[in-house]
Amino acid sequence: MRFADKRIWVLGGGSGIGLAVAQAAAREGGAVTIVARRPERLDAALAVLPDGADGHVADLADEAQTAALFARAEPFDHLVFTAGDALQVGAVGETDLAAARAAYDVRVWGALAAAKHAAPHIRPGGSVTLTTGVAGRRPMKGWAVAAGVCGAIESLARGLALELAPLRVNAVAPGLVRTPLWDPMPAQEREAVFAHVGAGLPVGRVGEADDLAKAYLYLMEGGYSTGQTVVVDGGGVLV
Ligand SMILES: NC(=O)c1ccc[n+]([C@@H]2O[C@H](COP(=O)([O-])OP(=O)(O)OC[C@H]3O[C@@H](n4cnc5c(N)ncnc54)[C@H](OP(=O)(O)O)[C@@H]3O)[C@@H](O)[C@H]2O)c1
Repeated sequence: MRFADKRIWVLGGGSGIGLAVAQAAAREGGAVTIVARRPERLDAALAVLPDGADGHVADLADEAQTAALFARAEPFDHLVFTAGDALQVGAVGETDLAAARAAYDVRVWGALAAAKHAAPHIRPGGSVTLTTGVAGRRPMKGWAVAAGVCGAIESLARGLALELAPLRVNAVAPGLVRTPLWDPMPAQEREAVFAHVGAGLPVGRVGEADDLAKAYLYLMEGGYSTGQTVVVDGGGVLV
């Protein structure tokens, strides 16, 4: 029971990596509070979490909603931020600047707002863990905006680690992970992408949300890591 007596807030805990973090923390005795954008996602997630889990609906791109969430929060131990959408990809020459700016709204500005409003409520010994992606470390052609978003999150985590010390602030950088993020892609095409990308990775498969959850739990628990980004990508940055 690594998280007995701990409360963990997971912003983005309604699905995918965030839900896996919430489930893993709950299995280890943690009390979890999840935040989702869509009420139906929140309800479905709470249905698979143990009694004692609770949740809220909020648009984390809106600082006022984030501030309202934490204004009524009891002291807690760890903040995990996994809210975000799929990467924005496309040739630089065709970039819609308004859409490119919007790509930062949840993942960067939403994460900053969450850290800003949550930090005063986090107990000593606690942590903040953000979510970036390997697009920042190993972008492909057409990924310039995505690489910028991911790089910004890594740097934000380093800056916040100093600013909010002795709270610890880190980030996790997933590679390709099988989550509902990919649901908009037709099933057959999606499975073909997973199979193709997985076969090219040193570990021979794409990631599962549970693979990622382990990294978040490590960063919450490990009292001597701060300002770091843990890459969990099946070795993708090497090939
Ligand atoms: N899966 C991958 O391959 C992969 C790879 C690298 C990085 N990442 C990043 O990892 C993070 C988690 O992704 P995932 O795969 O777990 O995706 P997911 O299953 O789609 O989960 C993302 C969650 O973020 C929530 N969200 C999005 N915008 C929000 C907003 N404005 N306010 C509140 N909640 C919001 C969504 O809530 P609702 O469902 O309620 O709308 C959703 O539950 C994302 O930032 C993603 O870009 C994922």
